[in-house]
Formats: sequence, C-alpha cells, structure tokens
Amino acid sequence: MDRTTTGGSRRGMEVSQSSLAAAQGLFKTKYGEFQDGGQTYVIHRPDTPRPWINIISNGTYGLLISQNGGGFSWWENANLARLTCWTQDLIRDESGKFLYIRDDESGAFWSASWKPVSAPYDHYEVRHTIGSTTFIQRSHQIETRWTLVVPPNDALELWHVQVKNLDSKPRRISLFSYLEWCLGNGTDWHREFQKTFIETVYDERLRAVIGIKRPLPMPAHISTGMSEWPLSGFHAVNRPVVSYDGDKEHFVGRYHGMHQPAAVQQGKLSNTLGKWNDSIASLHVQMTVQPGHTEDTVFLVGKHESREATETMVHTWASPDGVKKALAGVKRLWDPFLNRLRVETPDPAFNLMTNTWLKYQAISGRLWARTAYYQSSAAYGYRDQLQDSHIFMPLAPELAKKQILLHAAHQHLDGVVLHWWLPLVEYGPRSGLSDPHLWLVYLTLNYVAETDDLKALAEPAPYLDGLAQPLFDHCTRSIELTLKRFSKRGLPLLGHGDWNDGLSAAGPQWKGESLWLGHFLYHILQRWTELLERLKKERPVKINGVVPALLAKQITRYRQRAAALKTAINRYGWDGKWYWYGTRDNGELIGSHVNKEGRIHLNAQTWSVIAGTATPARAKTAMASMEKILNREYGPLLLTPAYTKPDNTIGYLSRYAPGTRENGGVYSHAATWAILAECLMGRGDLAYEMYTKVCPLKRGLDPELYYGEPYVMPGNSDGPESPYFGRAGWTWYTGSAAWLFRVSTEYILGVRPTREGLCVDPCIPSAWDGFRIVRQFRGTTYQIAVENPTHVCRGVSGIWLDGKPLQGALLPDVRDGQVHQVRVVLGAPPSKRVRGG
Ligand code: GLC
Repeated sequence: MDRTTTGGSRRGMEVSQSSLAAAQGLFKTKYGEFQDGGQTYVIHRPDTPRPWINIISNGTYGLLISQNGGGFSWWENANLARLTCWTQDLIRDESGKFLYIRDDESGAFWSASWKPVSAPYDHYEVRHTIGSTTFIQRSHQIETRWTLVVPPNDALELWHVQVKNLDSKPRRISLFSYLEWCLGNGTDWHREFQKTFIETVYDERLRAVIGIKRPLPMPAHISTGMSEWPLSGFHAVNRPVVSYDGDKEHFVGRYHGMHQPAAVQQGKLSNTLGKWNDSIASLHVQMTVQPGHTEDTVFLVGKHESREATETMVHTWASPDGVKKALAGVKRLWDPFLNRLRVETPDPAFNLMTNTWLKYQAISGRLWARTAYYQSSAAYGYRDQLQDSHIFMPLAPELAKKQILLHAAHQHLDGVVLHWWLPLVEYGPRSGLSDPHLWLVYLTLNYVAETDDLKALAEPAPYLDGLAQPLFDHCTRSIELTLKRFSKRGLPLLGHGDWNDGLSAAGPQWKGESLWLGHFLYHILQRWTELLERLKKERPVKINGVVPALLAKQITRYRQRAAALKTAINRYGWDGKWYWYGTRDNGELIGSHVNKEGRIHLNAQTWSVIAGTATPARAKTAMASMEKILNREYGPLLLTPAYTKPDNTIGYLSRYAPGTRENGGVYSHAATWAILAECLMGRGDLAYEMYTKVCPLKRGLDPELYYGEPYVMPGNSDGPESPYFGRAGWTWYTGSAAWLFRVSTEYILGVRPTREGLCVDPCIPSAWDGFRIVRQFRGTTYQIAVENPTHVCRGVSGIWLDGKPLQGALLPDVRDGQVHQVRVVLGAPPSKRVRGG
C-alpha cells in the first residue's frame, strides 16, 4: 500500500479510479454484467427471471422501467399522482410506455424494448445506469437506441431515440410512441370511471398531446378511498408529427393487443381526441435514414402545469442538445453522492455496492421515488425513510437533517406519529405500533454524532395538532411516550406491532411486551442521556424551555429507567439459550423454546448486542444460538421455524406463506443488524460471511435460484420452508440498502463518527490485506489506508495522521476543511504496538 502522506485529493481520486477499474465487466451471468466501471448494469436478454428495473427519479418526477420496457411515470407521489397507467404483473410485464418502430416499406414493426411486440432481434441490450436507462436493439438492419432520462429540477422525462441504418439502402422508418394517461390514482382499477374525467387535446405548435384531468381532486369516499391529486400531462416530440392519437380504441384496435396495435399495422394514427375516449397519447413521426446514418428524435413526457410551462420545457429539452444537458445535469446531481465516500477493498462486490449501488438504491429508490415493482407505496414510512436517511449522513448530512425535520412534523403532541403518510394529500394513519416515534430520536442522535450540529436540536417543527417546537421537544415526547407504555414488570409494550410490522395481533390490548423494543429503548436512553449531560455542562445551544434543572431531572430519571429496563430484560427475557422476543396479550411467549413455531427471533438477539443490554456471557450465548439456528445458507432468518397456520395471537406474518418475508424469510433489513452485531462482537470473518450471503452481486451469480436484480438489495429472500429457498423478492423497496451501507462503512470498515472525532475500528475478514476509505467528516476529508499485515479481524495496533502517531483509534475532529492522510495498522493492541509510521 502507498504510505506517502502527500498528494491530497489526487489520492482520493485514485481510490475511485482503481475501484472503478476493478469493477469493469464483473459478475457476468447469462443475463448480464456490470460495465462502465460498475456504474451500469447491462442486461443482454429480455427474459430475466423477474423484471429487472431501474428507478429514475430527481426527487420530484420519476419513472421506473424494466428490461422489457414495462413501468410508469409519476410526479411527487407515485401512487396518487401517476401520469401513466401501469398494471402490477411481474409475470407478463407488459404494461408500460412503449415505442414502436415500423419499416414503412415492408410494414414490419417491432418495439424499442422487447415488450410489447416481443419480436425476434439480432441484438438486445438494456443499460440501467445512474439516472438513465438505454435500450439498444438491432433488428431488420436497423439499430435503435432509446434512452430515458429525467433531468434534475424539472417535472419531465426525455426519450432520446436514435435510429441507425445498418443497411446499404435508404430506409423509411416510422416511430409510434404510446402511453395511457392515468393522471391520478394509479391503483384505481376502475378505468371506466376514471376515464370519464380525462380529456385529450393536441397542441399543434408544441407538437404535443396533452392529457387533462378535469374534475376537482377525487373525494376519498369515491372509488379507491384515497383522495388523489389533480394532474395533467403532456407528451411532445421534436419532429413534425405525421399523425397523433388520444384514443386507445383507435390505436390498439378492437380486441387487438399491444403486440399488434391496429394503428401501427396500418402505419397511421387517427387524430382522435376528446373527452369520450379511453385516453392515451401517441405520436407518429417519420424519417428516411441514409445508409450508415443516424436520425435523432426526442420525445418528452411530463407534467402539464400550463401552456407556458410546457412550452418552456419543450423549448429547453426537446432536442439532442437538451438530452446532453439532461445527462450532464444527472451527472452533476449524482457525482457528489457517488464521490464523497469511496472505498477500495479486496472485494469488488463490496466496493461496487458501497460506492455506487447502495447509495443509488437508497436515494433514488427509497427516499425519492418510494416505489418499485413489487411495492408501489409513495408514502413516507415514519421509521422507513428516517432510517433511509442514514445514507445522507456522510454524503450530504444537511439532507438527513431535512428528512428528520420532515418526520418530526408528522408527530402528534402526545408523541404518537403517523405510521406513514402520503405527500401531496398529506394523508396517513396514527400509528398504533410501539416503536416508530423512537426512530426520530435514533436518527437525531446519529445526525448529531455525524455533524456535531447541536443547533439542530433547537430547530422547530410543527406538531400535527400543535405549534412548532424544537426537535429536542419532539425527541423528548417520543421517549416519554415509550416510557409510559410499560408492563407492570418493567418491559415496554408491543401494541399493534414493533419494528416487525407483521406481529400485528400479538399485543393490540397493550398487555403483550416487546423485548426487542426494550433493547432499542435502552440503547436510546443511554445515548440520549449522554447528550443531555453535554447540553447541561457545555450549554452549546439555547433551546426554548430547556434549562439545566430540567436536564438534571431528565438525566437522573432516564438513567434510572435505563438501569431498571436492563435488569427487567435480563430477569425475564432470557430464555435459557437466547432472548425470547416478546409476550402476547394473553401472556404467552413469542420467540421462546416453548413455542413450536417462531421459537427464536433474530432481532431479540442482535439488538441485545447492539444495545448492550446483554451481559458479555449472554451476548455470546445468544449470538451462538443465532448462528446455529438462524444463520442459514442465504443469511440469517428473521425467525424460525416459520408459522404454518394463521395465528391470531401473532399477526399477519403468520398468514404469509411459510418462509416468505417476515414469516421465516431472510429479511434483509434485519440481516444487516446481524452483520452489525457480529462486528461488535469482533468476529469479522462471520460478519463478512453473512455479508456475502445477502450481497445481491454474489447471490445474483446464480440467477435461476436468486431471481432478483444483482445490483440492488431485495427486501427478503425465501427461507427453508419455501419451495424457493433463497429466492429474492421485493427488490429495491427495502430499508436494507441504507443500513447495509452504514454497516459496511461504519462497522465492517469501522470508520464511524463519534462526538470527539472519527473512530477507526475495522472488523474485517482476516484474509484481507487491508483496504482504503476516503470519507468526509465535518467538512474535512480523511484518506484512510488500513493495513492488515498479521491478518487479524479487529484491533488497531497503530494509527498515524499525516505521518504523526496518534494515541487510541480516534481521528481528531480537526475541521480544517483540508485533506488528511491516515495510516492504520491492524494487529496486536497498542501496548504491543509494532514500529511504523
Ligand atoms: C416493512 C415496513 C417496515 C418494517 C418492516 C418489518 O419493510 O415498511 O417499516 O419495519 O417491514 O416488518
């Protein structure tokens, strides 16, 4: 490893470049491979085991698209403000926005994506990359490239269509675009009702079909029970329009199919518009392409706000230059996220996941789009997107704060939060679950550890039923609410579920207990009390109503409650070889050896280590049981054995097919906590083994078993009771992306923020010779090179900052905005430190 201490930012770049090079062309299967240094996943054939999609979003406008061309577009709310229609059918995957290509001499036609025509091809390639997807196809001596991109800060998508003539004679080609207007509630099945509110018009000058939704927002009691957002859309093109259509019947033809639409067969659209149709938008353009030449066409699909706004968008974007601008904008948007924390380890899968795809999944998929193929929610889950905002901590901490304050504003004065809420309509249910509000405290603590921005505690956020109060007040109410909901013997109550939503029927009478919540609350009380101590001693920030006397009282009380909680957890919760999970309203145990099904639950073990509630001996025993019973071929199961019959003293997870999702599957989100716990135990080899078991790049090498996209985390993979043991499901839409990123960087690589500085405490596989990580911390860049000459998992024997030895494993919080070189040698503890520097 390079030990020079000069070279500043250049060396930071070196990390990125070499890890990019390492990722080139890796993880190839019969379906695809990573290219462009790992930033692009290239799919070579349309018949992947399930739709393999991209989620392209700028935080406001978004689209998702599969390797077949299936998918839809939305603005702000992928559920209630969908621009285009989509049917969730992962088997047929033939619902989407499409582009037909027609040879006007022979009448032959095919589609730019494999669906809907499903025609034979000479070459097929789908390139999912950061912020865009491109379909490349060769058929009939014509090569088409169809790129879909969403520029930052505007409510539209661009389709760049390049038609290249590979023939020796000129070719006359027609393009027909196609989309169905939804303009509102995407989950409404009642098309005959919805269509009556939509009208299409054609704007000659803008070359655009505009779909207008005419009613006021739909009242909630009608149709799906979800009030929706009034929305209009436009579809435009930069070439002269030969014909257009706003009517599905004319386009498709009576009882035809999308694979053989009458209009494309005939080579002409009907120019039908109005209020009486099943509304679509289709534009027909024609071109003659000379041999060896390429013709460019740019289509737009976007939100129609007003004629002026649409005209501006058409003017700005409807050209090949507009496409270039959009792609450059996407790069500018993503580069900071992709570059601010980079790693180079001996494992290319780990590098690729950490440097690129986990970030992209968490930000584009989870935080911005909040939708995917398996689940299209659009809601902010109270605990979900809070946890997702972990991704921003080292990359753009101000965005984490924004997310925290947004969630604070969805809390009631009694501390109860909305379980989830839908933006735009601001609708969501009061949570009857026992933990969501506590995640606000957890994220606030992590944000303060990252930034030391104690002023954030004073930032106001309104209550749903009260005036704005400081974030500190929101956190206090969250803690107080949880402290009120305790059983007589001193354990927190489960309510309608805890982090495990599926335990929905075990404690609705508020008698059943959650031991997992006990661990989590203990962890929070410990850390919150430390923060209170600091506020009391240093008074770094003035928070309305928060005075030293109050802090002193809170500190004493929280300390007592934490100590009592730890005692109760260990007095009642120990099951002999592991911690049981909880009790039901009727007093029966959950996750105990006395149970036939669900005898051991993962979170009760891992969080006893994470929170520090377990004694060292119990932590060892609990984790040993976890490893023996839960840690299986494809990672740690959430519980085992799976519930085989619906159990109304457990909840809906017992109604899932055994082995799926929370019912005995590998639930990726919780699996990341198992990796974290192993790191805290110092077992780097085991932690890495588990990482490998859940890593989609590695699992994806066996696509016929794994099924999911190899570039993003799945929500779960099936457990042993399922006939499809190991199969991934619910890809993209999972809190595991941000968590795996956090666990990978902060616990495996061990570079984590603390109040005093950046701690370096890696827990890596012993086989690794070392690794590098470049990370910003409070505005300063640390380029850290870790060496592992004696092949240990954990233990720092020496650490040097810009060539000078440091005591302990803490990088001081220099905050000088400069780039610093750090050398770390793992091995024997400091007392037996090797010479070096
Ligand atoms: C789903 C929910 C999340 C919950 C998890 C476990 O992913 O969105 O909030 O914690 O399931 O049940």
